[in-house]
Amino acid sequence: MEFGAPSHSFASPMAISVRPALEADIDRLVDIENAVFAGDRLSRRSLRRLVASPSAVIILAEIDGNTIGYAVVLLRRGTLAARLYSIAVAPELAGRRVGAGLLEAAENIARSQGRALMRLEVRTDNGPAIGLYQGAGYRIFGRKPGYYQDGEDALRMEKMLAEAVR
Ligand SMILES: CC(C)(COP(=O)(O)OP(=O)(O)OC[C@H]1O[C@@H](n2cnc3c(N)ncnc32)[C@H](O)[C@@H]1OP(=O)(O)O)[C@@H](O)C(=O)NCCC(=O)NCCS
Repeated sequence: MEFGAPSHSFASPMAISVRPALEADIDRLVDIENAVFAGDRLSRRSLRRLVASPSAVIILAEIDGNTIGYAVVLLRRGTLAARLYSIAVAPELAGRRVGAGLLEAAENIARSQGRALMRLEVRTDNGPAIGLYQGAGYRIFGRKPGYYQDGEDALRMEKMLAEAVR
């Protein structure tokens, strides 16, 4: 799939750049996954499959070539919705707008692929992520009981992308 947008920097006091992940980035993605998530982790195999998939994009955020976060966008056929499948920022860089930049990059990719909305699931007890999404204009539209491995429910959230064009 054409990624659509070249690597670029987003507004941040740090020199952060984003680019699509490649096969060679899998180890770095696994490291972040292990550092960030206690459960429901994406396996190395899943990450490899996502990097190779024509209907998925993994966006890496980097500082000086070091991976500090990533987001996964799924672009399945037959729907106008894109899905934010995962987003994670290295714990030592939390709260410095890296997540917001990755989310914006994910939305730009979805928009460039003609998607009208972004949808996602988030744990009901994940305050930072819910704060990130609400701050970016997402609204809760549903709930999936027992969605996570430990039985926690997911909130379903969505944002119309067309309205977000500036
Ligand atoms: C959720 C996550 C990606 C946010 O990334 P981040 O880079 O720390 O977030 P940002 O600095 O970009 O914050 C953007 C907004 O999110 C919200 N936010 C971020 N951290 C927050 C916290 N600890 N509590 C409440 N809101 C928070 C705020 O609204 C913030 O806006 P502000 O900077 O104007 O206050 C990060 O905390 C993370 O990787 N968490 C673990 C993985 C995870 O839970 N992923 C989501 C799965 S659905």
